[in-house]
Amino acid sequence: MGKAPFPEPKSLTQRPQWRALTEHRGQIEHRHLRELFAADRSRGERLVAEAAGLYLDFSKNRITDETLRLLQALAEACAIRERIDAMFRGDKINATEQRAVLHVALRAPPGERFLVDGRNVVPDVHAVLDRMAAFSDRVRGGGWTGHDGRRIRNVISIGIGGSDLGPVMAYEALRNYSRRDMTFRFVSNVDGTAFSEAVRDLDPGETLFIICSKTFTTLETLTNAHAARAWCLRGLGDKKAIARHFVAVSTNADEVAKFGIDLENMFGFWDWVGGRYSMDSAIGLSTMLAIGADNFRAMLSGFHAMDEHFRNAPPDRNLPLLHGLLAIWNTNFLDAPTVAVLPYEQYLKRFPAYLQQLTMESNGKHVTLAGERVDYQTGPIYWGEPGTNGQHSFYQLIHQGTRLIACDFIGFCQTLNPLGDQHDLLMANMFAQSEALAFGKTADEVKAGGTSDELVAHRAFEGNRPSNTILAEKLTPRTLGALVAFYEHSVFVQGAIWNIDSFDQWGVELGKALAKRTADEISGTNEPVLGHDSSTNALIRRYRGLRK
Ligand code: F6P
Repeated sequence: MGKAPFPEPKSLTQRPQWRALTEHRGQIEHRHLRELFAADRSRGERLVAEAAGLYLDFSKNRITDETLRLLQALAEACAIRERIDAMFRGDKINATEQRAVLHVALRAPPGERFLVDGRNVVPDVHAVLDRMAAFSDRVRGGGWTGHDGRRIRNVISIGIGGSDLGPVMAYEALRNYSRRDMTFRFVSNVDGTAFSEAVRDLDPGETLFIICSKTFTTLETLTNAHAARAWCLRGLGDKKAIARHFVAVSTNADEVAKFGIDLENMFGFWDWVGGRYSMDSAIGLSTMLAIGADNFRAMLSGFHAMDEHFRNAPPDRNLPLLHGLLAIWNTNFLDAPTVAVLPYEQYLKRFPAYLQQLTMESNGKHVTLAGERVDYQTGPIYWGEPGTNGQHSFYQLIHQGTRLIACDFIGFCQTLNPLGDQHDLLMANMFAQSEALAFGKTADEVKAGGTSDELVAHRAFEGNRPSNTILAEKLTPRTLGALVAFYEHSVFVQGAIWNIDSFDQWGVELGKALAKRTADEISGTNEPVLGHDSSTNALIRRYRGLRK
């Protein structure tokens, strides 16, 4: 492994800027958002920033102007500007894999330049985009037919992790813009139920499989891809059918060819695109097939607008920088262990799941770039559900539980499905929740409402729960692109401050290796000699005994 790209201090927590924040926490800890809002009547209009169609209200965080100043000082001390420049320059900031991190090049307009090892990759990006557009136009227009000449009506994308979560999230998010006469399904889990249920009511003669895998070696994806091939051959009875019913998206042409997919039907991307940063590469082929090439390009323009904002906006107006720094504040100084992502938009129902991989696979690291154990918390746990459903399940804990949960509310001013006053009701709920979390209800207020003494403590809300609100005009492909890029860059900022490698994922390897060995032990006909711990040995034996 090469040297860490940035000099590091002994520890982040030894930096004077970190210490200043620790000291400052002592002043903030006992202040309430009620008080902060009362002291500054314009707080809700001042602590906001806007870019690429997104309005970020961060006023309901437990911060003062001094907090923001200190966080910006920390960012500067951690060389955030240099790190941003290094990413956009194509430096190998994924140090442990010695790779550039250039997802921003995937959405660069044709005239721009992004260099990887001295080569401008933007023309390569557009060559693939053009091929995707031509293919997608043919499939959507009926020019690309199945083996027996019938139109493709079903698209099944097979992939996992970054080769699935982005595409499925984007499909659900942009369903309003999608071809309603085509069926789109996504298979990721190696559980045979996922594949079986996905194809149960489909005709192979009308079905196109997109096998998405950066490496094309991932067990789950390859297993499902083989199941798909067998299903297709069973239905169509001719090996030649594969060429009309299978396309691949990968960086690994050799493995694609080995699987039996014609390289003519392969859409490539590059090792400088991380899996969880790839939904705007060819991995998004299913998105393009669903919404069309023009809408896909509109989505890319939203990504790009946020990239430009992140690169050029001053720190105090910079949405991803502010959001990332607030995450540091909540995680490291207010000890909030998790972030609830709460979209008040049904189409964003898979957005929390998508963000889980983006944030937790990126920043769930325990060593610095130089491999030293950190002595501070890194990536918080992300989770969430669309509003208003969550309100009737886990919001209780956010309002009155003993842990501090930071929340991101996401909403839109216009609905894509007007239905009476339902959108107003939805949004009223979103605004009400962030207000209730911030301001709560004091015991006096509860008493004033006539509550009996013994119930006052139960019905009082402490408030002072931090939240961000992200508000946009309407959910469009462009807004979605901006929203995803906003989070990508926020994650980058957090990783930069923590001085970790946000772009590797070694933590998934051990489980993969153990599963391989265990799979061999399970499937063997002879009783295997098991060398695991006593618990794992007993579980395997019991499973072998009871499986058919
Ligand atoms: O789970 C680890 C991981 O490598 C993710 O980072 C990645 O998105 C996923 O597996 C799928 O990998 P591939 O696209 O190579 O099949």
